[in-house]
Amino acid sequence: MRVGILTGGGDCPGLNAVIRAVVRTLQHEGDGVEVLGFRDGFLGMVADRVMPLDGDAVSGILPRGGTILGSSNRDDPFNFDHVVDGEHLTGDVSGRAVANLERHGIDALVVVGGDGTLALANQFARLGVPVVGVPKTIDNDLRGTDQTFGFDTAVGIASEAIDRIHTTAESHHRVMLVEVMGRHAGWIALHSGIAAGGDVILLPEIPFTIDGICAAVEERRERGKSFSIVVVSEGAKPLGGEQVFYRSVATGAEKGRLGGISHTLASSIEDCVGLESRVTILGHVLRGGTPSARDRILATRFGTCAARQVLVGNHQTMAALRGTDVLAVPITDAEGGPRLVDPGGQMVGVARATGIRFGDS
Ligand code: F6P
Repeated sequence: MRVGILTGGGDCPGLNAVIRAVVRTLQHEGDGVEVLGFRDGFLGMVADRVMPLDGDAVSGILPRGGTILGSSNRDDPFNFDHVVDGEHLTGDVSGRAVANLERHGIDALVVVGGDGTLALANQFARLGVPVVGVPKTIDNDLRGTDQTFGFDTAVGIASEAIDRIHTTAESHHRVMLVEVMGRHAGWIALHSGIAAGGDVILLPEIPFTIDGICAAVEERRERGKSFSIVVVSEGAKPLGGEQVFYRSVATGAEKGRLGGISHTLASSIEDCVGLESRVTILGHVLRGGTPSARDRILATRFGTCAARQVLVGNHQTMAALRGTDVLAVPITDAEGGPRLVDPGGQMVGVARATGIRFGDS
């Protein structure tokens, strides 16, 4: 048997732990199984960029961030636009990718990725490619699993950063805005805000008003707290307004990348409450470096689960955490858009009960 594996989408702590677990499980529980890694996500499948993965190749990678295979979140084989070996390939090149799989004699493909990557895996599954998915993203917004790996690390890094920023906020009587990743879903902001004692949390799922944020800061000042911590999800938006994207300095055109909303907010908050307001954008720091122990364990469990599905031929499935168990579910369970924070759910309720405000009242 020969098994292919690729990592797609934004990198995420724990990707290497998945690769290692897949290779090792196939070695220990399979019979002479060979593993071939495709480099840089689906780009490697189209361009036929491969690397053999044996025990030596995955030795020592468990604690390493990133992915030894490389990743890409711009290369959709069904709508391609990339120069490959001097040739500009455009449009649907999925046939080329499938032909490469066949040429290598790939019996099953393990795809490690978030919503975009798993949606592409699904498209290949519909073409008859035997696929097994593994859910990844620091945003934790994938349907079909109770948690993705990478999230725990991101929340840990964000919480530590907020703890550190707390001391400056308090010493200098400032409003400190800490912006975290979270494109569609505010899970990182919500969890790190609760873990590190944020005063205001802004999520994409709960539109805010400047008045709502300022009222929370004022209320704290009246209670003798002359500082506040505002945890901002990069995808947060004002009531009736839009998300903030980076723009080209030269042309003003939107770059399709979220981020920077905190700068506008800081200026507005400073104007309305008169406290110096400062911004820290954590950005890719949340995705970088070594995975937490919890993420290493989840990633390893997912990798072993995916490898076992390959060995028994249970294709078109995805490893998923359901309650405390890791099991295989239909890969289509990941479809249907991002899994969002429920504004009326338990976590938001706990935050409100402990005095956290969401800028919505
Ligand atoms: O999906 C994970 C994520 O980290 C988002 O939170 C963020 O908006 C996006 O990736 C950024 O991706 P990139 O590094 O490709 O701009």
